[in-house]
Amino acid sequence: MCGIIAVIQKRGVVAPFLHQALKRLEYRGYDSVGVTTIAENMLHTKKDKGKIEEVHKRLNLDEMPGLIGIGHTRWATHGAPSMLNSHPHFDCENKIAVVHNGVIDNFMGLRKELKEKGHKFNSETDTEIIPHMIEDFMKEGFDLAGAIKEVTKRIEGTYAIVAVSADDSDKIVCTRDGNPLVIGRKTGASYVSSDIPAFLPMTDDMILLLDGEIASLTTEGVHIEKLSDGQTVDRDTIKISWTADQAQKSGYPHFMLKEIHEQPNAIRDTLRLPSESLEKAAKIIKESENVYMLAMGTSGHAAKAGRHMFASLAGILPSFELASDFQDTVYGALSDKDCIIAITQSGETTDTITAVKYAKQHGTKLVAITNVVGSSITRLADHTILTQAGPEIGVAATKTFMVQLTSLALIALALGEMTGFKESAEIRQKRKALEKLPELVSEVISRNEERARRLASVLYEKPSLLFLGRGISMATAEEGALKLKEIAYNHAEAYSAGESKHGPIALVQDDYPVIFVAPADDTRNRIVGNIMEMKARGATIISVIQKDDDEIAGLSDHVLMIPETTEPEFSIMPYVVPLQLFSYYMALRKDYDPDKPRNLAKSVTVL
Ligand code: F6R
Repeated sequence: MCGIIAVIQKRGVVAPFLHQALKRLEYRGYDSVGVTTIAENMLHTKKDKGKIEEVHKRLNLDEMPGLIGIGHTRWATHGAPSMLNSHPHFDCENKIAVVHNGVIDNFMGLRKELKEKGHKFNSETDTEIIPHMIEDFMKEGFDLAGAIKEVTKRIEGTYAIVAVSADDSDKIVCTRDGNPLVIGRKTGASYVSSDIPAFLPMTDDMILLLDGEIASLTTEGVHIEKLSDGQTVDRDTIKISWTADQAQKSGYPHFMLKEIHEQPNAIRDTLRLPSESLEKAAKIIKESENVYMLAMGTSGHAAKAGRHMFASLAGILPSFELASDFQDTVYGALSDKDCIIAITQSGETTDTITAVKYAKQHGTKLVAITNVVGSSITRLADHTILTQAGPEIGVAATKTFMVQLTSLALIALALGEMTGFKESAEIRQKRKALEKLPELVSEVISRNEERARRLASVLYEKPSLLFLGRGISMATAEEGALKLKEIAYNHAEAYSAGESKHGPIALVQDDYPVIFVAPADDTRNRIVGNIMEMKARGATIISVIQKDDDEIAGLSDHVLMIPETTEPEFSIMPYVVPLQLFSYYMALRKDYDPDKPRNLAKSVTVL
């Protein structure tokens, strides 16, 4: 949450780059935006409430002098979105500028102390204490990096902090604890950002910064030290495999639609994961006594589908727990014989990282499934499966969900081979079916885009919708409902179709829309019964079905069609796609920006 970017370069001006980089980071927050540059030993700042382009229209973010600058796009925690609460924040003399992502838990006490010393505050944010503290330490004789080291000794919480000073203006200093920062390098320029896409058009050379480290960036290079003992850290540069083009809309009106269309390729790339890596994950799982899948939101739906794949293909049924509630559910009943499979596309979700750290205190092993190389989860994991979706910019996850499912299917097959739960011939057949999915998903997109658009124009005014499924399709239904809530703001609930008769059916009356996910698997006939129950109460029936399922088509008012059958363990992959498209077109029909849903941010780094 919150996007940070900073750059120092030898030539030119940094402002147009900062403006564009902030646009690439907007998915991390869009309540307000701000930029500070330094020229002739003075800070120049433009910041305001609103989305980047609105603020740019008012203030012209491209016209600012200087070879060094920092920028921030905000997702409000402390203090409402407003000009004064926008980052950067400053010291009393307007010499030091700071941007921050995270939460400083003990800011109230520090703010009181600073006020008593005569510091003047302009905002309600926790961040503003940082430049004032730096100011005091610099007055005591510390340079910018030294002052920030002193600040980190006093603040508690999670943070990524980036600072510049007009009195020490040949460097950017940054540090982190619990929130992401990555450094980019090229000849004559250094960058630091909360996410890779921000600087990707300028360089694909990345250096990781870990928790508890501080970095000074100049035009010549990067110096990293450990905060604990001041030891210099030598860290190799990593080549980023993502391309700048992947982080552009490439002619699509929205990132979400582009990313839906990228799903076939994302599956294809993930299917190429090395078999040794999948086998290593499978081995850890097989040798564990208890296996827990932990995740949040959409990643949680991947986990729920993954349970079905593991059970059906390998005879192992992991528990699923919301990472945010894990500690309050497991009550320490964990050991070094257990393992966690943590699924997080960003690799930075604080709920998931916190649960994993808690489990690791008990010696529990960790298999991580993530899309971001070098992310926090990868540094905690005993083994990481790196999904191959490329950068996902739309806030609502689509292609990262698809590759999570792909990698879970691959692990389930590797695990199945190890446990022998299914005959090898059957595993081979399932593997073949998985390899056909890129093509199938591609066909699902082309056959359903117009249907989904038309369906949205019929249903967009419905205040509430039910999504029902059974077995693995329960996860599909849950993901369909979440997408709709997130970007179109219709109330939507997903239930097991079996459970729907035990309460939710009371909601149903004439024209109430009920969406059934009904693949041609063992659950299908029971779903027909549930459709009849809902129909009898006047519901509008929408079903996602296999093309030739004339019976369910005949019972439905609207259908979304999957052109071919697939193995039941993988049905979620084609069946979720029409629901993604439906949500997308619902958002458009209601004039909402599907890439920037209200109150949400791509990476949730608060508890
Ligand atoms: C929904 C969505 C969120 C995330 C959740 C976990 O479209 O994107 O529900 O799935 O915040 O994020 P990660 O996977 O980064 O841990």
